[in-house]
Formats: sequence, C-alpha cells, structure tokens
Amino acid sequence: MNRLVVVSNRVTIPSAGAKAGGLAVALNELMERQGGLWFGWSGRASDDAASTSKPAIVDHGSVQYATVDLTHEEYRRYYTDFSNGTLWPLMHSLTEQMHFDRRSLAAYRAVNERLSDILLPLLRPDDAIWIHDYHLLAMPAALRARGVTAPIGFFLHTPFPSPDILSSVPDAAVIIRDLLSADLIGFQTANDAENFAASAHRIAGATRLPGGSLRIAGRDIRVGAFPVEIDPQEFARTAETASHNSDTQRLRRSLDGQSLILGVDRMDPTKGLRHRLAGYRRLLETRPALRRAMTFVQIAAESRQEVDNYQYLREDLDRMSGSINSTFGEADWLPLRLTARGGSRDTIAGYMREARIGLVTPLRDGMNLVAKEYVAAQNPDDPGVLILSKFAGAARQLGAALLVNPVDADEIADALDNALRMSRPERQDRWMALWETIKDTSALGWGRSFVNALADSGESQGGRVQRPGDLSPATFPNVGSKAADRRGAELRLVPPTSLSVN
Ligand code: F6P
Repeated sequence: MNRLVVVSNRVTIPSAGAKAGGLAVALNELMERQGGLWFGWSGRASDDAASTSKPAIVDHGSVQYATVDLTHEEYRRYYTDFSNGTLWPLMHSLTEQMHFDRRSLAAYRAVNERLSDILLPLLRPDDAIWIHDYHLLAMPAALRARGVTAPIGFFLHTPFPSPDILSSVPDAAVIIRDLLSADLIGFQTANDAENFAASAHRIAGATRLPGGSLRIAGRDIRVGAFPVEIDPQEFARTAETASHNSDTQRLRRSLDGQSLILGVDRMDPTKGLRHRLAGYRRLLETRPALRRAMTFVQIAAESRQEVDNYQYLREDLDRMSGSINSTFGEADWLPLRLTARGGSRDTIAGYMREARIGLVTPLRDGMNLVAKEYVAAQNPDDPGVLILSKFAGAARQLGAALLVNPVDADEIADALDNALRMSRPERQDRWMALWETIKDTSALGWGRSFVNALADSGESQGGRVQRPGDLSPATFPNVGSKAADRRGAELRLVPPTSLSVN
C-alpha cells in the first residue's frame, strides 16, 4: 500500500489548535484513517533560518505532520500578493480585482520550489503524493524536476476559469504546464475540469484525448471532477444537539419569533456579500410588510486582511450595513446583524438549524460547503429554505434550492420573499430532494475516490508515472535542473502497485 503524502498550504495539526479551513475539514478523516504524511506551511512567518528551512515534525496518531515557516518576504509575496492577490481572483474569474507583479510570481515559484526541496528528504519510495489548491500550482513540476517519480495528484478547491480569463495573467502557459506534471488533476465540477482541459489545449498545447485525459510530452494526464463533500449525517446530529445549547437559545430569544435569514462566510470578495446586502436592502424597500417579521444575521468572518481588496470589502460592508440599519431599523428592531467574528462549528450548526433561510450567494465558488451544511442542519419536520448562487459549485448538486444570480438584487429579494412565504409542504419537498442528494456522501468518500483514481492513473501508465529525465528544463524553462541532477540518482521510487485506503 502506498503511503499517502498530502501537501497543502495550510496544515491543520489537530492538537495544535491550528486554523481549520474547508480543505482541512475535508481531509482530516481520510488522513486519520489512512495515516501518512501531511506537509506544508506552519501558518507562521519568521526570519529564523532554522524554522524556515527545517520542518517541525509532529506525530499525531498515524499521521505525521511536517511544517515549515515562511519568511516574512515569502508570506507577503507568495501568500498575500500572488496566491491571494493574483490567483484567488483569477480562479474566480474576478479579473478586475486581480493584481499582478512579476516579482510576486517569481517568489511564488521560488516558494513552491523551496517547499519541494524540504519535502524531498521526507519522501519514501512507496509514496503517493496529493497536492492541494492554488497556492501550489507549480509544485508538481518542481517535484518532477527533483527526480520524484511517485504518482502525483493535484486537486483544486477553487473554480477554474475559462481559457480567455486565464490568459489575462501573464505566464498562464507556464502555470498550466507546471500542473501537467501531475498524473491526475481533480476539480470540483465538470465545468472546471472542462475549462482546464480547454486551457491546457489552447494555451499550453496539450492534446485532448477521448475520455477527458490530456497528453503532453508523451505523458497522459487524467482530468476529472471530484466534488468535495461533508459528512451530512454527522453534521445533522451536531446541529440537532446544538439547537438546545445556550448560544442557539440566546439567538432564538433575541429573535422573538422573527424569521431568521442566515449567511455564513469568510469575509471575502468572492462571496457576493456586497450584492447580498443590496438584495436584502431591495427586499426591505419593496416589501415593507415583511420588515419586522425577519432578521438577517450575516456572519462574515474576517479573513486575509493584508490584501487591500479585503480591507475595502470590510469598509463597504460596515457602511452598507450601517445604512440599512439606520434607514429601516427602529428603536426595538434592527433588520441586519453583521459580525466579522466567526463562531465555533457547533454554534454555527445550531444557528443553521434555527434559520428559516440559508442565504449562500457567492459570485463564484469552487463548491461552498456552507450550502451543504445548511441542508444537513435542517429539522426534517420544519426545514428552512436554501437560497443558493447558481455560480457555486454546489448548485450543480443542489438544484432543488432556490437558485439565484448573485449580482441581481431583485432576484435575491424575490427569492427571499418567496422563501419567507413558502408553505411547509413545499419546504419539505425541496429539502427532501436536497437531502437525498447529499445524505449518502461523505468527506471520506470524496478523499477515497480521488486517491483511488490516483492509484488507477499510476497503473494505467504501466506502473510508471514519470522519470526525472522526461520533463527536461527545456520543456519547463522556469524549473531549475540542478536539484534534479543532484537528486535524480538518489530517488529510485518503486512503481505504484495498488493504493487502498480502507
Ligand atoms: O480553497 C480555499 C481555502 O484554501 C479553504 O481551504 C480555506 O477555508 C480558505 O481558503 C482559507 O484561506 P486562508 O488559508 O487564506 O486563510
């Protein structure tokens, strides 16, 4: 059995109380059950040479966590500027929010290479490597250039833009070619996979093969959709229990019988928060009779405040929410409660069960697990209504939600009105259709399906994934060759046999 090596920008060490994002939630159980190595950034910036170059190793159960610090300069250039200032808006097709600076791209590539150098001595011959997300697009090529022949899978948690949008960033071809050093490249939806395949063909010259694979430099790369899942049954139990806890009871008392509209997001420009508040404002303007019958609670947890666009968003939301409350609020009723503080998973689950409406309207989203959690949290006897952006990956599965265009204030207002007035039988029908879609899925099942596909793609290449010499620096000009020359001989990795995650 291959050892699984997960590589992600953020690494969540359970005992260290590190920050758990969507990625960590999706991967934790797989890693706990399967064991393996989880490698990435510690979440800290430091200029101490030891902590930036020597991985800190923590063993927890059968998982070994290996993390390194970034330097302050790397944090600024690689994480803040290029990952979050360039790639994040690009992946979400929000090019007008995208900054580009060639020096940040160079730093991004350098960090991907430096992380590869640090990972290399930790690798074993029987490893299967699974790299995650937009921070590490250059890593498959960097590992190959260092002689790694193990199967490499890559999964993108964000959407992937169309070839035209992608071309708006200089060096798009290089970014794609780097990724094509992986054996399996997974996306949240078939649409994202198609955008990638079309870009790889048009921008990087890959050949499209029947069945969705790509061919470049004599290698076949599998491309597919692997929608991330939650654990719906477990989340349903958590929400039911939380509905009796003190946080939920306090919220319930404060609502005094009004219908709760709930939004739960990171405070991120992709989440459609400005448009969402505009939609709610439109509802208040056009349906005065509803005013005192509802309260909108928007949890917008502060995030990435070093990036200018996130600061502007915070300022805009503060201004917009102040204006909504001063225009429509009264001494004993405020229409909107906006908070930049997140809450614990239990607290949020309890709030979700309490909410008559889950309002999830990102401008674009890879998946959006909040939408799935909202469905799981509902009381089947008296469920709430999910209003969901048609541009969230989750909309591909959750078609029984009220789907809206997130930039259309009238459409949001109409959907809110519809949901607030919806009869219990219709709410139950819609909820049942949503629940049927997710009830048998799990985060573990998602992880297993990707890892099994990675094993298959290794085998379909005749047990041979990639030799160091195949991707010469001439093919991938931005990847240095020295390390490959130095280490190619040391790494004689056995071909993948079968990879089971039972
Ligand atoms: O894919 C998006 C993602 O990386 C999620 O996994 C995570 O929840 C979120 O972004 C957190 O962002 P950051 O690591 O920048 O705080």
